[in-house]
Amino acid sequence: MSDSGRLATDLRAAAARLARARRVVVYSGAGVSKESGISTFRDPSEGLWAKYDPMELATAEAYARDPAFVWAWYMDRFGLIEQAQPNPGHAALAELADLVPLTIVTQNIDGLHQRAGSCDVIELHGSALRFKCLTGRHTGLSLADLAGSDEAPPRCPHCGEIVRPDVVWFGEALPTAALERAFELASRCEVLLAVGTSGVVYPAAMVPVLAQQAGATVIDVNPEPDAIANMADWFLQGPGGEVLPRLVAEVKRLCEEG
Ligand code: APR
Repeated sequence: MSDSGRLATDLRAAAARLARARRVVVYSGAGVSKESGISTFRDPSEGLWAKYDPMELATAEAYARDPAFVWAWYMDRFGLIEQAQPNPGHAALAELADLVPLTIVTQNIDGLHQRAGSCDVIELHGSALRFKCLTGRHTGLSLADLAGSDEAPPRCPHCGEIVRPDVVWFGEALPTAALERAFELASRCEVLLAVGTSGVVYPAAMVPVLAQQAGATVIDVNPEPDAIANMADWFLQGPGGEVLPRLVAEVKRLCEEG
């Protein structure tokens, strides 16, 4: 059977399982935003970590060492994220939530799921759109809240301490409530739909493992085999922006058929 024939067959089977599901968890990574123009991390040629040393940019130690340098790098990324638009993959996942009960557990910090209309989104690694002061006391700050400070990085309007992006850096704990809810939902879901993740960064990568251990059906969408493909019931090989709209259209057809 040709690859496209295999994909079509598997996609129909995966859609049939999704259409019957009453509890779905979508687990997304940087790949779902690739077609929105946002780089992934581990793409061998153009991934962020192929160009930059994460230990120089995505750790609390790096920020303490040179806050202005790290802040400037995040502001560049913030600019790219602000200009990015949700792609058909994000839109398909927002539409899927109208067809079956689902929660998106994302590792992404770009907010594109929410901008595509997804409402129930758990951000395991924080958000590039939110900031907090180094004391940790003042969180949920927007760039607008920081406009009164002409320093880079700016200072907290409440306590004067410098602020940082509210994202999880290497070596830092993930937000407890977000992680606990993600693990709880993964342990109870009927279907785990993974899209655009290498599946190698823990503890977030426990989400598909917990789902599979609890007997959930695992569907993985990725142009390349990833760490989840081996445990998946269906590996739908292709870009999320192409595969997800086809998958959701089939779920919609089945749901309308009744
Ligand atoms: N559609 C779907 N998936 C894609 C696409 C696409 N168009 N293009 C690439 N991919 C896949 C790649 O094949 C890869 O498997 O997206 C995945 C991206 O993997 P990573 O770059 O490792 O990103 P991610 O899994 O989200 O990384 C997890 O690592 O550095 C930390 O905090 C960072 O949240 C990030 C975490």
